[in-house]
Amino acid sequence: MTAPRERARQRENPEPEEGDRPVPKAVFVLIAGLFLWGCYYLLAHTGYPLGAGDARTPIVARDGADGGAVSGASVYAGNCAACHQAKGQGIAGTFPPLVGSRWVTEGNGRMAAAIVLRGLQGGIEVQGTVYDGQMPSFAGQLSDAEIAAVVTHIRTSWGNDAGAVSAGVVSEVRTALDGDAGPWKGGEALRSAFDGSAGG
Ligand code: HEC
Repeated sequence: MTAPRERARQRENPEPEEGDRPVPKAVFVLIAGLFLWGCYYLLAHTGYPLGAGDARTPIVARDGADGGAVSGASVYAGNCAACHQAKGQGIAGTFPPLVGSRWVTEGNGRMAAAIVLRGLQGGIEVQGTVYDGQMPSFAGQLSDAEIAAVVTHIRTSWGNDAGAVSAGVVSEVRTALDGDAGPWKGGEALRSAFDGSAGG
């Protein structure tokens, strides 16, 4: 004789089973595919993990048939656009615009190269607005060719219409700045350093 409670349990349907339906193979293939794509993406776009260990490795693109030409647009996108924005318009009150900026377009570009090389920290007036932020130095991150390319890019893009700057000129500026420590202390310091040679 089975107890009434036991009989009641026997009337119940069995628990639903899920163990004997395997995960479709396609799911594994998909996951493997995504993983491989992720690895490829990291390697192709950031150089990681090959470039690991130096978090500040600049994102630099070389293109052109000779494989050695540096793309100013790519150097800009990887190193400047986060602050100065994709079209050089800046962010009002925080990051100054490069479009229509005298600091970019005036003179022969040596001053713009010097800003990129040393960084800038202190008041600087751009188009009537005074900015007092911090721009990092790129002397250790970018080569002369890369700085020449990016300075040429900002001087010739978005309506800016100034001359190109060569790697040789950037190299001269870099050498002339040797021994100088720390970022430029604002627009006045730049003006006095480049009075005459920047043409503006
Ligand atoms: C972390 C943010 C940041 C990055 C990245 C940055 N800048 Fe700047 N930049 C600034 C700030 C802030 C100022 C103004 C500094 C001040 O107030 O003293 C400035 C000023 C300038 C100026 C002079 C003012 C003007 O608007 O013309 C130039 C030229 C310039 N940056 C170019 C560049 C270029 C080229 C790059 C990339 C190689 C770059 N910056 C990367 C924040 C940045």
